[in-house]
Amino acid sequence: MVKDDKQRIAVIGVGGWGKNHVRVLHEMGVLGAICDEDQLRAKELARLYESRPYYSLDQLLENEPDLDGCMVCTPTKTHFAIAKKIMEIGLHVFVEKPLAFSSKECEQMIELAKQKKVILTSGYIERFNPAIQDVKRLIDDHKYGDLLMMEFHRENRMPLHIRDVGIIYDTSVHDIDTAMYLFNSTPHVVFARSGTKFHSYEDFATIMLGFDEQRVAIIASNWITPNRVRKFSAVCTDGIITGDYITQAIKIDYGDATLIPRRGKFQEPLTLELRSFLDVVTGKIKQPVVTPQDATNVTKVAEAALLSSNTGSPIYMDLKSR
Ligand SMILES: NC(=O)c1ccc[n+]([C@@H]2O[C@H](COP(=O)([O-])OP(=O)(O)OC[C@H]3O[C@@H](n4cnc5c(N)ncnc54)[C@H](O)[C@@H]3O)[C@@H](O)[C@H]2O)c1
Repeated sequence: MVKDDKQRIAVIGVGGWGKNHVRVLHEMGVLGAICDEDQLRAKELARLYESRPYYSLDQLLENEPDLDGCMVCTPTKTHFAIAKKIMEIGLHVFVEKPLAFSSKECEQMIELAKQKKVILTSGYIERFNPAIQDVKRLIDDHKYGDLLMMEFHRENRMPLHIRDVGIIYDTSVHDIDTAMYLFNSTPHVVFARSGTKFHSYEDFATIMLGFDEQRVAIIASNWITPNRVRKFSAVCTDGIITGDYITQAIKIDYGDATLIPRRGKFQEPLTLELRSFLDVVTGKIKQPVVTPQDATNVTKVAEAALLSSNTGSPIYMDLKSR
């Protein structure tokens, strides 16, 4: 078959989140196929977005020889096996966060991606949130001095369908990635406390990440609060930036003044994220915004947070940079 220029990307796992990937890829005109072991779900979405449904990864890969890549939107503990199969046949892969459950799996994935010369990235979507992009620019330009400390609050009622991991792997990982991104660095120490009240894994956690030069990030997440909260603050030597991931608004307090920067129209982070993945696939940009090493570091910090919480000890780390 002669292949045209259009990219073809399949989505594996079209549940609560994967269906958004399907919608966005369809809008971009690059939706290649849909795969979910829940046949009703796969059929329904394929009907809605005029695509082909498959009910297993093997069936998808056998019948769609001209795919360029896949999005893996299945539960965390399935990421490794699914992404491995995809990379083994030479396809690019975007794996939802966290890249994999264990850092050993992440490292094997990095090696395989290198060997097969395929793109591997993970869904740390807040990098594409316009609020975080604005904060990143302000911090990198030292507009309000040097960044000293950050705080993140991510709260919501418990997602009943998440059964394979607790809040650290499911939720805190977003803020772990954002903290490393905004500090432009990796933590050398992790200390955490977490607890299990209603879920089978931890459903509340507070994680402290210590960076060099006394810089610190505090990440508080819980699945107890009945409404959705996703806020952050960044304390710099000459001002404090606070923001809301949901509304994408930021506010800067400095001296006696408060500044609320205006932005153009609302942009959906997922659209920006998937467009960026396609730009790497088509060679427009050289490497993914979230490198596999970045994503591996997040899993390593999540592992350390669980270990710290279980042992009551700080965990010292020496992470590779991207
Ligand atoms: N980036 C974000 O903001 C964000 C938000 C939500 C979820 N996620 C991530 O997306 C992933 C999925 O989360 P969700 O909330 O959509 O879960 P979900 O349970 O709603 O959906 C998972 C889907 O995967 C399917 N599935 C499971 N194993 C499969 C397999 N081997 N082959 C084919 N299909 C399979 C299930 O049938 C289900 O439809 C997780 O990794 C989660 O961390 C990311």
